[in-house]
Amino acid sequence: MQGIQGKAPRRIIVTGGAGFIGSNFVHWVIEHQPDVRVTVLDKLTYAGNRENLSGIPRDRMAFVQGDICDADLLEELFSQADAVVHFAAESHNDNSIADPEPFIRTNVEGTYRLLEAARKHDVRFHHISTDEVYGDLALDDPARFTEETPYRPSSPYSSTKAASDMLVRAWHRTYGVRATISNCSNNYGPRQHIEKFIPRQITNILCGIRPKLYGDGLNVRDWIHAEDHSSAVWAILSRGRLGETYLIGADGERSNGEVLRAILEGMGKAPDDFDWVRDRPGHDRRYAIDSTKLRRELGWRPCHTDFAEGLASTIAWYRENGAWWMAAKEAVEAKYARQGQ
Ligand code: NAD
Ligand code: TYD
Repeated sequence: MQGIQGKAPRRIIVTGGAGFIGSNFVHWVIEHQPDVRVTVLDKLTYAGNRENLSGIPRDRMAFVQGDICDADLLEELFSQADAVVHFAAESHNDNSIADPEPFIRTNVEGTYRLLEAARKHDVRFHHISTDEVYGDLALDDPARFTEETPYRPSSPYSSTKAASDMLVRAWHRTYGVRATISNCSNNYGPRQHIEKFIPRQITNILCGIRPKLYGDGLNVRDWIHAEDHSSAVWAILSRGRLGETYLIGADGERSNGEVLRAILEGMGKAPDDFDWVRDRPGHDRRYAIDSTKLRRELGWRPCHTDFAEGLASTIAWYRENGAWWMAAKEAVEAKYARQGQ
C-alpha cells in the first residue's frame, strides 16, 4: 500500500531525542525548519543526556522525560502531534549480547506502543532503523544492501530492530498507519556515546589508554555523518512515499583497521599503537548501503563527503568536551575489560 503525503508536519515528537542521532536530528530541525516545534520524549537511560539538547530555545522544543512503553503518557503526547520520528532504542550490539532483555522491551514493545498511539491519533510515523537488519556481506562480495535485500539479522540488537521494522510494516498495511522506515548505516559525529567504536578510540587516546581493535580489524562499516542522516530523515518524513522503506548511506565503506589508523594519525600516534582484543561473537563482516532510491526519488545528497575532515572535527569535539564524556569513561572501560575487550 502506498500513499501521498499531505503537508509537512509542524508538531513532531522525537523519541530518543536526547541520544546521539536523535539529538543531532533535533538540532538539524531547529536550524533548518523554522516552523516546526519539537517534543522530545526520552527516558534518559545511560545513553541519553539532557545536555545534548542545550541551547535550543524553549518556544521551539519541549522535553519530556519518559518511557516509550508508557501507554498513558503516549496518549497525552500523541493527541497533540502531527508526526513522530522514532529514534529511541537500546542501540549497542555488545550490550545486547551481554543482556538482551532491555532490547526486547524498548525496541520491540516500545515500537508497538508507539504504533498503537499513532494508529489511534492518526499521527504520521517515521521509524528509524539500521542496515544491520540485513545481516552481513562477505568482504569480497561486490553487492550492497538495497530495499529488496532479505532480512537476516545476526545479533540480539539487530533482531529486535528487524522485529520493530516488521511491526511498522504490519501496522501500515493492516491499520493504515501513515508510516515510513529508514535503514541507515553506521553514524559518526559529535555526542556519540563512548561505548561505540570511533568515540571509544578517540577518548582512549585522550586518556592515555591504547585503542582496542576486535578480531582481525578487517570488518567493514559504511560510515555516514549524523548530520547527513538527519537531512535524509527529514526528506523522507516530509516527502517520502507512505509505506515505503528507504536505505540511507553515503558511500563511506572502510575497514575498522583503516578507521583506527586514521584516528591514530589524526591524534599524532604511531599506526601500531593499539591492542588487538577478543572478537565480538557473531561479528558481522561487512555492511554496505546502496542509497539510489533515496537519492533518485527524493533528491537527497550527503554534505559530509570528506571522511578525514568529518573525523577531524569529531576528534576536536571530544577533545573540547571532556566534561561531557569523562564521568562515564571508567565504567565503560571496566565493562569492556570484563568482556575481554
Ligand atoms: P543512543 O543509544 O545514542 O540513544 C538512544 C536514546 O534513546 C537515548 O537518549 C535513550 O535515553 C533513549 N531511550 C532508550 N530507551 C528508551 C525508552 N524506553 N523510552 C524512551 N527513550 C529511550 O542511540 P543512537 O546511536 O542515537 O541511535 C538512535 C537510533 O538510530 C536507534 O533506533 C538505532 O537503532 C538507530 N541507528 C543507529 C545507528 C548508529 O550508527 N548509531 C545507525 C543506524 C540506525
Ligand atoms: P560499533 O560502533 O559497536 O557499531 P556496530 O556494531 O553497530 O557496527 O562497532 C563498529 C565496528 O567496530 C564493529 O565492527 C565492531 C568494531 N569495534 C572494535 O573493533 N573495537 C571497539 O572497541 C568497538 C567498540 C567496536
